[in-house]
Amino acid sequence: MKKIGVLTSGGDAPGMNAVIRAVVRSGISAGLEVFGIFDGYEGLVNDKIRLLNKGDVSDIIIKGGTILGSARLEEFKLVEVREKAVENLARHGIEGLVVIGGDGSYRGALALTEMGINCIGIPGTIDNDIDSTDYTIGFDTALNTIIENVDKLRDTSSSHHRCSVIEVMGNRCGDLAIYAGITTGAEIIITKETGYDEEEVLDRLRYFEEKKQKRHSIVLVSEKITDVHLLARKISLHTGFSGRATILGHIQRGGSPTARDRILATQFGDKAVRALLNGEGGRCVGIVNEEIITIDITEALQLTKKSRKPLFELHDRLV
Ligand code: F6P
Repeated sequence: MKKIGVLTSGGDAPGMNAVIRAVVRSGISAGLEVFGIFDGYEGLVNDKIRLLNKGDVSDIIIKGGTILGSARLEEFKLVEVREKAVENLARHGIEGLVVIGGDGSYRGALALTEMGINCIGIPGTIDNDIDSTDYTIGFDTALNTIIENVDKLRDTSSSHHRCSVIEVMGNRCGDLAIYAGITTGAEIIITKETGYDEEEVLDRLRYFEEKKQKRHSIVLVSEKITDVHLLARKISLHTGFSGRATILGHIQRGGSPTARDRILATQFGDKAVRALLNGEGGRCVGIVNEEIITIDITEALQLTKKSRKPLFELHDRLV
């Protein structure tokens, strides 16, 4: 193998640039030519492909976003669309690909591998919803962004005897909410795993206020579960707190990556290049019990999410 490519796909995540840097530099050090593919799979199909050198990735380890751009391309499911991508790769002589993204991106990587282009997936998403790895790139940075913002909301909630209802991202995965809930001392955490019962939330808030004499409360809610503005109004109506809702939104996807994300990104990028050099394809990189591993994408996509019950129990003991 002489030439490989790298692309970022799906929602961006802080640390993607650090992965790109590691892939480019590790690849060049191993004697490979490394091509950047712009705008995810869309760039593969429309031939937005350019050779990168070590200088092209200078200074990007500290930057959020992705210098390659990212996109979601539904049509990549169609074989005729993927054939165009394979043709473009063949024209450039690219035999292997590193795909940085979430599970949707992994499916594209698997399909391309089946068409003769060895692909290695790297988990890049703030959601931490890829079950073959303990941590995805961007999760730690997003978590720290949430903590910073919830700490600020706590200040003002406390001054005004308010309950702050804060919605965080995660798609269908509650990890951002549970980790943020524990690290900010939130009173209530709502995720897909806990389920949502509005009456129970109101009861608990009344208990915190009346029995525990709390001056303020924080309720952390995973997105796609309930309307946080509506919940805040109900809190104002049915508890002694005045409710206010904040949706943190895309702010969680930006910013300079944390040390943890930079290190993980560097290890993952290097591991993916080694895997391609070993002739591996259709596999993805991860960290499991502090060890950097690769596993088959097919197997990775079949794993089920580990329960966060121990974390919820820990939270309940401390609240
Ligand atoms: O997968 C990352 C993520 O930020 C999710 O947490 C969120 O549900 C989704 O992407 C938002 O997507 P978009 O940027 O397309 O609005």
